[in-house]
Amino acid sequence: MFERLDRLPQDPILGLMALYRADTDPRKVDLGVGVYRDDSGVTPVLDSVKKAERAVYEKESTKAYVAPAGNAGFNTAMEKLVFGESHAVLSSKRVATVQAPGGCGALRLGAELVRVSEPRTVVHVSTPTWSNHIPLIGGSGLTLEKYPYFDTATGGVDFDAMLGALGKLPEGSVVLLHASCHNPSGADLSDEQWRALVPVLAKRRLLPFLDMAYQGLGRGVEQDAFAIRLVASQLPEALVAVSCSKNFGLYRERVGTLHAIGETPAAAEAMLSQLTRIARTMYSMPPDHGAAIVLEILSNGALRSSWDSEVDAMRARVTGLRRALVDQLKRACPQRDFGFIARQQGMFSFLGVDAAQVRALREEHHVYMTEDSRMNIAGLRKENLEYFAQSVAAVL
Ligand code: LMR
Repeated sequence: MFERLDRLPQDPILGLMALYRADTDPRKVDLGVGVYRDDSGVTPVLDSVKKAERAVYEKESTKAYVAPAGNAGFNTAMEKLVFGESHAVLSSKRVATVQAPGGCGALRLGAELVRVSEPRTVVHVSTPTWSNHIPLIGGSGLTLEKYPYFDTATGGVDFDAMLGALGKLPEGSVVLLHASCHNPSGADLSDEQWRALVPVLAKRRLLPFLDMAYQGLGRGVEQDAFAIRLVASQLPEALVAVSCSKNFGLYRERVGTLHAIGETPAAAEAMLSQLTRIARTMYSMPPDHGAAIVLEILSNGALRSSWDSEVDAMRARVTGLRRALVDQLKRACPQRDFGFIARQQGMFSFLGVDAAQVRALREEHHVYMTEDSRMNIAGLRKENLEYFAQSVAAVL
């Protein structure tokens, strides 16, 4: 049976992690996988998480099963974090929420729900999009197509091209949208652009599938959820996948949520029943530990405000690094304008070099980024900014 299997190439992001670990050069710089790092290059366990973890350990009295939909308290707390305390979509009971194994699990649950409902649905993703979106959603059996998004000339969104393409999609298509901190480009829609996009989605009867993996790391916890809250107040249906990996630093705990918005409470109930069936048939139920920690943080005033400050500090560090990087690049490569990096937000930006230059950065300068030149800005440190900028100058 298994002799027939081909050996697959490594995942473009996770493969880099192994290459970086094997590099023994002390100057090495990891701008590959999207994990937040502090000034010393460490991905810390947040203080709020440590405290919540202790509290969970003390309180926990059983390891018995929870449920396919996960921890109900966590799901409710996440609904408030994502939609806001008193959003009408929550009070009108139009949201079905399930805990998921990370943002990836949430995306796959959403795709499976669409497939169960209409297997011929086409999901449209931005050009470019996160490399794992395509196999993750495509793995459900749905077809994927692309819409224009990133404008390499400006480093922003080619909004006219995007709107034009979405305005021509067949009814019932799904549009995958990054709620904030676009991965890989860092180019986000402005609030005005979201306001202009929603009527197009409504008119064409398109289903928005919003992916929010970086809430708090763009403009702020509330501001980054703007698109989701707008969509929830104006459209009858939507899917929202949320990850707690980055903003809670709970990467390996695999915790996230899928929120499915229906036109009526009955539709939400039906979706919840379908989602719990899908979860049961794929992995039975999600891991509990990360969700218990998030619930502890979101339901305890002191822990919540300490988490808010920690998210603010992560965001401030990345924003500061963006500005410092532009300054260093201006000095090292005066012939080229990298100002777009300071205008983008979240953890990622494209450096804007080709695959051969990316390879030269890795092989000659020990600087790691994905082949498309996506950089995890949080992987930089004050001490290596100059080294990085000079390495870029050398390959340009
Ligand atoms: C990334 O984009 O690097 C992160 O979301 C990690 C991953 O799983 O790819």
